[in-house]
Amino acid sequence: MKVSLYHILVSAFLVIEPIYKVNGELKVGNKAPIPIPVAGPRKIGNTVCLPDNFLQADLDPTPFTPVESYSVQEFDTSKYIGPQDKIDEDVEELLKTLTVEQKVGQMTQLTHTEFIGCDGAMNKTAMEYYFDKYSIGSVMHYGHPIKTRWSYWSAQRFANFTNTLQEYATSKGSKIPIIYAMDSVKGAALIRGAVVLPSSPNVAATFNRSIAYDWGRISAKDTRASGAHWTFSPSADTNTQKQWPRNFKNFGEDPFHNGEMVYYSVKGYQGDYKKDRTRVAACAKHFIGYSSPINGKDREPRNVPMNQLMEYHVPSFQRAFDAGVASVMEAYAATNGEDVVSSNLLLRKLLRETLKFKGMLITDFDEINSQYLRHKTAIDASDAAYGTLKKTSVDMSMVGEGRSFADGVIDLVKKGKIPESRIDESVRRILQLKKDVGLFEQPFSDPKLIETVGSKQDIEASRNFVKESLVLLKNENNVLPLKQEENVFFVGANVNSTRYLCGSWSFSGVGPTNIDGDKVYQGYGDTIALGVEKLTKKPINWIQGYDISGNKIGDYDEIVRIARKADKIVFSFGEDTIVDVQSDTDTLDLNPEQYSIVERVAKETSTPIILLLAQNRPYSLGKLSKYADGIINAGIPGAYAGLPIAELLYGKFSPSARMPYTYPKKDYQANVNYYTPIWNEYRPEFAYGVGFGYNNVTYSNVTVSSDKLRPGKPITVSVTATNNGKMEQKETVIMYTTQNIRHIHAPERMRVRNFDKKILAPGTSATFEFKLTAEEFKFWTAELNHILEGGPVTITINAGNKNAVNTQIELYKE
Ligand SMILES: *[C@@H]1O[C@H](CO)[C@@H](O)[C@H](O)[C@H]1NC(C)=O
Ligand SMILES: *[C@@H]1O[C@H](CO)[C@@H](O)[C@H](O)[C@H]1NC(C)=O
Ligand SMILES: *[C@@H]1O[C@H](CO)[C@@H](O)[C@H](O)[C@H]1NC(C)=O
Ligand SMILES: *[C@@H]1O[C@H](CO)[C@@H](O)[C@H](O)[C@H]1NC(C)=O
Ligand SMILES: *[C@@H]1O[C@H](CO)[C@@H](O)[C@H](O)[C@H]1NC(C)=O
Ligand SMILES: *[C@@H]1O[C@H](CO)[C@@H](O)[C@H](O)[C@H]1NC(C)=O
Repeated sequence: MKVSLYHILVSAFLVIEPIYKVNGELKVGNKAPIPIPVAGPRKIGNTVCLPDNFLQADLDPTPFTPVESYSVQEFDTSKYIGPQDKIDEDVEELLKTLTVEQKVGQMTQLTHTEFIGCDGAMNKTAMEYYFDKYSIGSVMHYGHPIKTRWSYWSAQRFANFTNTLQEYATSKGSKIPIIYAMDSVKGAALIRGAVVLPSSPNVAATFNRSIAYDWGRISAKDTRASGAHWTFSPSADTNTQKQWPRNFKNFGEDPFHNGEMVYYSVKGYQGDYKKDRTRVAACAKHFIGYSSPINGKDREPRNVPMNQLMEYHVPSFQRAFDAGVASVMEAYAATNGEDVVSSNLLLRKLLRETLKFKGMLITDFDEINSQYLRHKTAIDASDAAYGTLKKTSVDMSMVGEGRSFADGVIDLVKKGKIPESRIDESVRRILQLKKDVGLFEQPFSDPKLIETVGSKQDIEASRNFVKESLVLLKNENNVLPLKQEENVFFVGANVNSTRYLCGSWSFSGVGPTNIDGDKVYQGYGDTIALGVEKLTKKPINWIQGYDISGNKIGDYDEIVRIARKADKIVFSFGEDTIVDVQSDTDTLDLNPEQYSIVERVAKETSTPIILLLAQNRPYSLGKLSKYADGIINAGIPGAYAGLPIAELLYGKFSPSARMPYTYPKKDYQANVNYYTPIWNEYRPEFAYGVGFGYNNVTYSNVTVSSDKLRPGKPITVSVTATNNGKMEQKETVIMYTTQNIRHIHAPERMRVRNFDKKILAPGTSATFEFKLTAEEFKFWTAELNHILEGGPVTITINAGNKNAVNTQIELYKE
C-alpha cells in the first residue's frame, strides 16, 4: 500500500525551464506562453449574448482524445512540505517594490466571470482594466449556475483562457502572475472531460488512505492542466448535522477518521508542491465550526463551546496543517456569536497563535461585505474591511465582483487606519504561495498535462474508488448479490442518469442546468443502467417511477404490476444536485410518494425489495428499512459509478466500505453523533462505522501487548480477521475505545482511535495491529484544560457490526 502513497507524475512533465528567475531574484515579465489553439465559441445567429437554451456541447467543440495512461514516480511524503515561518528573501525584495495599490490588488480575488462576456468570449477590456489599474492578485473559477454555462470548458480552452489572463497579469500593473483557484472538490469536475470522482463522504467510506491520496492527486493534475494552481479543497469540516446541505463535501463525523482523510488528500493535492508543477495548493475549509448550524441550514449561526470545538472540530484542521496545507478558508457567518471573518479569537489567536498555521488565509465568497450586507456587524464596505484586517490575519478577500474591497482598503491605509505593515503581512504570504506553486518560474499551463485529462487510467482509478465506497447495510435472506438469470426490476430517476451520480460542484456549483441535463456528461461517464446491461447482457428492466426529488411520475399501479412479475425489485433513491443555501431542507423525510410506492410493493407483492441510496443526505427510511431486504448506501459516487454499482449488485466483488457518519432514523437525531455521551440515546438507523461484505468474516479475541496503558508507553492492540467466504474480501477494521467512567465530563460512547484495511483471500486470515497511546485519551475540559483521566477502558473492534469483539484495559494518568 505504501507505494501508491508515494507516487507522482513522471519527470517528463516536471522539466519546465524557469523563465523569470534571474540571478536568484524574482522577476516579472511577459514572456509568451505556448499557444493552445481552440475552436469556437460558436456564435448563435448574430446575437451577442448566448441564448439561454444553447447546447453546451456547441460552446466548446475542441476535439480531444486523452492518452490512455501516464506514469507516476515516487517521492518522499514523510517530510513536511508546506508553508514556513520565514518568508524567502526574494519575496521580501519583491514586496518592497510594490505600491500600496498593487499590494491591495494582490489581496483581491475576483471571479472569472468578470472576464467572460455573455457571448462566452474573453472580455479583454475587463482584463486590461483589472490588471492595469488594480493589479488584482487572484481569479477564482465561479460556480455560478448560469454564467458557468459560458465557461464549462475542456482543459485546452481553460488553459487558453487562464494563459490569456496570465499574459495580461504579467504585462500590466504590478506584472505579478495571478494565482487561479478552482473548486475541484471531486476531481476537477468544473472542467469538461475531467473525471468526476466520488464525493468526500464516499472517499471517507473507503477507509483507505491511499484512495484519499490518489483522489487528491488526480484532481490536482487535471486542475493544473487547466492553468489553475489552487483548489478550494479539502473540506476539513466535521459532519455534525446531517440536515446541513454541505455534508457531501466533508469526510464524515469522526474527528480522527476525517483528519486522516484530510491529511492524505492534502498530500495528494499538493505533493512536493514547491517543485512539482503537476500539483496544486490545497485549501482546508471552512475554519471553523461551520458544520454545526443551529437549525441544520447553510450559513446559519453555530454555537459550539470552545472545548467541543477543540475536541471535535480542530483535529481535522490540525491534520491539514501537519500535511502542510498551503491555505485555509474561513467560514461563513458566525461561530459562537462572532462573525468568523472578523473574529480575533478564531482567525488570529486560535488559527495563528495556538495552531501555528503559517500559510495563506482567504475569506469565503464576498464574506467581508456580508458583514454590512447581511449580518449588521459593519456599517459599510470600508468598516467591514477594517474589522477583518484589524482583528484577523485574513490575507485575501474572495471579493467576487467589483472594486469595493480594493478601494476600501487603499483608503484605510492612506488614512492611516490600517498600517501598511498589516497589508505587508498578508501580501508576503500571498507572494510566497505564488512562488511556491511556481508562478514566477512558469505562470502558464503545461500543455503536456492536458493530454492526461480524462485518461482511461483515471477512469479505472475512479471505478476502484467507487467500489471501495459502497456500503452494504442490510442483506437479509441473501437477497444480494443478484443472479444473472433473475428478472430484476429497477425503479428510480438516477438509474439512467450520470448527472445525479455526479451531484453538485460538477459543471457548476449546483450541477448542470435542466437545459444541459445529462448531455454534458455524454462521453464522460456511464449510468447504472449501462452497468447493469453490461453485466447481464440484456436490456435493463427499468422505469423511472418518480423524479429525482421523489415526485411521482407515471403510474404506480403499473410499477406494482411489473414488480409482481419480477424476481427482485431495486428502488433507487437520489437527491437533486444540492449545494448550499438553495438546498436547505426543513426535514429529512423522503417525499411521501417514495414511501407510498415502496409500501405498496411490499404489501401487494412478495417480491424482495432492495434500496439503493445515492444521495447526499441520510433521508429517513421509516418503515422502508423493514420492507427492504437489502440496503446499499452509494453516496454521490461520481461519473463512473454505473459499472461498480452494477458489479456490487451482481456480486462481482464483495463490498468493503463502512458508514462515515451516523444515519439517523428521524430528524431529531440529525445532530446525534456516535461519540454522544455514554448515557445518551444512540439508536440511529445505521451507526457510524457499520457495513459488511458478502463474505462471513470472523474475528479472533482482541489481544493487547499490555493491559496497562500509561503515558509514554504505547501498547499494541491486535486482532485477527478470517475470511470464511468464497470471495476476496477487502476488510476494514476500525478500533474504538470507551472510557468507562470519567468524572464530570461524561465519557463518550466511543471514540475511533485507528483503522486499517487489508485484502483477505478466501479462507485466509490477517492480523491487524494498532498502536494505542494514553495521550489519545486526553480531552478538553470546559475550562479548556487538555487532561487525561485514568480508569477502565474497553477496546472494541468493529463496533456496531455482527463480528465486533472487545477487551478491557486499565488506563493510568502517569
Ligand atoms: C487561444 O486560442 C486562440 C484561437 O485558437 C488563439 O488565437 C490564441 O493564441 C490562444 N491563446 C493562448 C494564450 O493560448
Ligand atoms: C467587458 O467588461 C467591461 C468592464 O468590466 C464591461 O463594462 C463590459 O460590459 C463587458 N463586456 C461584456 C460583453 O460583457
Ligand atoms: C436512458 O436515457 C437515454 C437518454 O438519456 C435513452 O436514450 C435510453 O433509452 C434510456 N435507457 C433506458 C433503459 O430507458
Ligand atoms: C460465520 O462463520 C463462523 C465460523 O465458521 C460461524 O460460526 C458463523 O455462524 C458464521 N456466520 C454466519 C452469519 O454465517
Ligand atoms: C476468546 O475469549 C473467550 C473468553 O476468554 C474464550 O472462551 C474463547 O475461547 C476465546 N476465543 C478464541 C478464538 O480465542
Ligand atoms: C487502497 O486503495 C488503493 C488505491 O488507491 C488500492 O490499490 C488498494 O488495494 C486499496 N487497499 C485495500 C486494502 O483495499
